[in-house]
Amino acid sequence: MTKYCSQLSGLRHLSPSARFEKIDEATGELMSGIESLSDATALSMASADGMIENVIGLFELPLGVAANFQINGKDYFVPMAVEEPSVVAAASYMAKIVRENGGFKAVSSAPIMRAQIQLLGIGDPFGARQKLLQHKDEILALANSKDRVLIELGGGCCDIEIEIFEDTRIGSMVVLHLLVDVRDAMGANTVNTMAELVAPFAAQITGGDARLRILSNLADRRIVSVYVSISRDSLTTNNFDGDRVASGIVEACVLAEIDPYRAATHNKGIMNGIDPVVLATGNDWRAVEAGAHAWAAKDGQYTSLTRWERDKSGNLIGTLELPMPVGIVGGATKTHPAAKAALNLMRIGSANELAEVIASVGLAQNMAALRALSTEGIQRGHMALHARNIAIAAGATGAEIDHIAKELVRIGDVSVDRAHGLLTIQK
Ligand code: MEV
Repeated sequence: MTKYCSQLSGLRHLSPSARFEKIDEATGELMSGIESLSDATALSMASADGMIENVIGLFELPLGVAANFQINGKDYFVPMAVEEPSVVAAASYMAKIVRENGGFKAVSSAPIMRAQIQLLGIGDPFGARQKLLQHKDEILALANSKDRVLIELGGGCCDIEIEIFEDTRIGSMVVLHLLVDVRDAMGANTVNTMAELVAPFAAQITGGDARLRILSNLADRRIVSVYVSISRDSLTTNNFDGDRVASGIVEACVLAEIDPYRAATHNKGIMNGIDPVVLATGNDWRAVEAGAHAWAAKDGQYTSLTRWERDKSGNLIGTLELPMPVGIVGGATKTHPAAKAALNLMRIGSANELAEVIASVGLAQNMAALRALSTEGIQRGHMALHARNIAIAAGATGAEIDHIAKELVRIGDVSVDRAHGLLTIQK
């Protein structure tokens, strides 16, 4: 049996079905159910109708697979659901370079989410804080009294924190945080249920009124961190030597570290890698986005989520650290057949492992963007891939698509007008 190996080149030149077969073969044909990934009707109307309200249809996106990923010594084909050209190709190419340099190294914290309980109408907020701390064991026991499965799996509410705010409009506020190890779940339902359960008790202890009882998307206790080290030689391009590319990446990152205007775009590039995997695995991409940007601003100024540096030998060192509230049990991860297949394709064994894969793709995507931006710019490569979209928008079908796309790139005018013109000449 073939060993799972994600190192594959030339996928771009194959048809979707040939690509699927190549990947199936490269995984040792081990991945059960992965055919759902190439089945546009995998999600039935009946299932969709059960997932949200007022369903009238399904919304499809292209599902690509990024190759070459090696993270903590394990190979991954990474499914990505995304509409933007260049994203999957860039991730695969950067993963190839990283792979040749020892692969991605990722670590993650325990999967701890937090919920907040807002308590109002308290005259002695510091006294209230003390009372909550004195009753910590009862609060934890109450929070853990319902979800037996989570406790059996080794999770549950493990700590509390308390914030005090003063506001001229509404007076003192005491905010009780529940810190909950949610194991392999994303955890929103778990922590929201606990918050609602604990709130009346917290109100009783403090003499306050419990109002909001909800998770915080600033999941700052559920952090994933990924690292790459790349030799300057691996970064050499046709027109730029590796040293220049490495310093270009570092300089680009410095601007994002100090300037929020650049940081927003820089981080958008990171999310170009992250969101498609979050989406393909049926996870809540709004939660991941909210957490990422809140984390990027946690020290008072919005900044870059990555850092790029040179070590003493001149290697380029890249790191990315951010909250990653994703799960592999519950929600769409289990009800959407393609999401289940996506997790199978990657052989994901835990939510932490999924978080590590997602962050690695984010770092790869950022590296690809900075490498292109600090050298030849992104438009040439991007337009070459975008030309296919333009050809389709102009009405090209079948073999015409590639032909028109190539012509548009050759002429240097990737526009629908020009594509129309070329199609008319052909017909
Ligand atoms: C485009 O989708 C993403 C980039 O703008 C990211 C960046 O500027 O770093 C290329």
